[in-house]
Amino acid sequence: MPDLRTVFCGLRFENPFVLAAAPSTDDLDMVRRGYEAGWAGAVMKTTSVPGSAVPLKYPMITGLTHEGRRVAAMGNIDLISEHHADEVCKRIAALKKEFPEKITIGSIMGSQRSDWETLVGMLEQAGADAIECSFSCPQGTLGSKPGAMLGQDVKLVKEVTGWIKKAAKRCPVVIKLTPQVADIVEAALAVKAAKGDAVCASNTIPALMGINLDTLRPIPDVGGMTSYSGLSGPAIKPITLRVIAEISRHTKMPITGTGGASTWQDAVEFMLVGARNVQMCTAVMKEGFRIIEHLKDGLSEFMERHQFQKTDDFIGYALRFITTHDKLPNISKGLSVIEDKKCIRCNLCYVACRDGGHAAIEMDKKRRPRVIREKCVGCGLCLAVCPVAGCIRIEPDAA
Ligand SMILES: Cc1cc2nc3c(=O)[nH]c(=O)nc-3n(C[C@H](O)[C@H](O)[C@H](O)COP(=O)(O)O)c2cc1C
Repeated sequence: MPDLRTVFCGLRFENPFVLAAAPSTDDLDMVRRGYEAGWAGAVMKTTSVPGSAVPLKYPMITGLTHEGRRVAAMGNIDLISEHHADEVCKRIAALKKEFPEKITIGSIMGSQRSDWETLVGMLEQAGADAIECSFSCPQGTLGSKPGAMLGQDVKLVKEVTGWIKKAAKRCPVVIKLTPQVADIVEAALAVKAAKGDAVCASNTIPALMGINLDTLRPIPDVGGMTSYSGLSGPAIKPITLRVIAEISRHTKMPITGTGGASTWQDAVEFMLVGARNVQMCTAVMKEGFRIIEHLKDGLSEFMERHQFQKTDDFIGYALRFITTHDKLPNISKGLSVIEDKKCIRCNLCYVACRDGGHAAIEMDKKRRPRVIREKCVGCGLCLAVCPVAGCIRIEPDAA
């Protein structure tokens, strides 16, 4: 059996799957159930100093709909937990007592230096294994810039990380960054410069979820008004993958990955570009804690198939294959190959190629798509739109 354990900031996780800071970790019994189901750890929902106002607004969650169908993303205008640090510390202490082998992480957000210092002290005393610092709540406020996030100001990232590191006596400090910056590497380097132990990459993406065409009001509609949501779920996975890859390639900082992972395959992809473990939120909110069984089974089978004995055998493996466009090899042109037996005659490849590619697919009399070799460059559009797995492939054109 492959060994699913991972080490992150010196902490040993029994598998790489961690519950992200979210409603699922904002209740003691829910985290208990998550641990019993098999999650290796949890980041408690972000908390604040006792007495801080947390004015939640409802409805706070929107599903992304496209052409009438629910698609793979969710928006939220949630804030941090309405439970303050004193309550969260009690939960952490209880979880550490009941589940000493699970990794229980506190998540904090402060508005001034003394808040961060107080929160670090309280969490360390409660027995938290690590402290994650939210520099990336999309509903956050940064001084006079409403909606701006701490993670968007490199100088502040360095300064605040420095305060937190000075205050932390025992716990590793993990800074949760935002992908909504021009240069994620700069932000991660600021954490590194201030001796932060790791980064969490990389939270939701600020978004406007849509406009109701009957009322002409944006959603979620909170008494007729809205504010920007944090977009999460599978739709943001490619953005997170790039963010993790960039931080890995340029900083070598330990990374806990979050943003769009919902299957074991997604998690493995995060790890292949350098994440040491993977946090999930939207997938759990949609399908429940039980997905952990599929995650562990899938990871085990993947590792067996590739003969990886431990997670370190593949963490970061794919990074060597990422380069800049100018350094990509000049290979001869490709050619699209359509498996006739698998084709369901949906026409999608034909239309896409005709109006968005190289008009290199024609339909024969039986409405079967045929590739015109001289026109096809192997761009990949037909493969991207084909609904049948394995029906179209791109091969180097030997001709
Ligand atoms: C409803 C909701 C509440 C969240 N609350 C927090 C929070 O309190 N602190 C935090 O750091 N992240 C919070 N997040 C972000 C998640 O921890 C996670 O990083 C993000 O949703 C991306 O991962 P996912 O695509 O697996 O959902 C929240 C996300 C959602 C959907």
